[in-house]
Amino acid sequence: MSATASATDLRVPPNRRLGVLISGRGSNLQALIGAIDRRRLDAEIALVISNRAQAPGLEHARKAGIETIVLDHRQFGTREEFDRAIAAQLKSRDAAVVCLAGFMRLVGAGLLDAFPHAVLNVHPSLLPAFPGVNAQQQALEHGVKVSGATVHLVTPELDAGPIVVQAAVPVLADDTVDSLSARILAEEHRIYPEAVALILGRRWTVSGRRFTIAP
Ligand code: GRF
Repeated sequence: MSATASATDLRVPPNRRLGVLISGRGSNLQALIGAIDRRRLDAEIALVISNRAQAPGLEHARKAGIETIVLDHRQFGTREEFDRAIAAQLKSRDAAVVCLAGFMRLVGAGLLDAFPHAVLNVHPSLLPAFPGVNAQQQALEHGVKVSGATVHLVTPELDAGPIVVQAAVPVLADDTVDSLSARILAEEHRIYPEAVALILGRRWTVSGRRFTIAP
């Protein structure tokens, strides 16, 4: 906590129930499930929502006995309505923190206002470098020697919210998108549960762009 932050600036979610949003493979969802199973993360996944009925990640949730629902964004007139429907489902399960895990939709006020400072995302680059899609390819094309993974709080600007945890990996001369993605993904799986544990377990503040753990 900075010298000027008051007790009301400290944010501790009211419970340890997570909602996880996916669109595809779900390996980060599986990393969260695994960390909870191994008691590295003291949390419970209340609900997994996918915007795609065929998302393979849904199977990870079902195998773990976690409730899943599909909300197809194409069934909603606007993004705001879609986001509000997601928020309503999460609220009805009493989720306190929302984890985007390969969720391929922009989220806006309909979700963010319902979960202020409580929506997290994992991104496969060292933000603010290479936001948006194909971050690993952007890194290779730029010729950076180091890339990595970022877990951040979600704000309306794409991949631009306060950074909670980052991890760096080397970019090797013979890397392909696949080899670099695999190296980064291993770090995503390590730091996402770590970041969720920080958010749930410790007092923290956000001041401007800076996320800080209270002493
Ligand atoms: C990950 O690389 C994540 O950083 C990005 O989308 C990918 C999702 O992978 N946002 P998975 O579905 O968690 O396996």
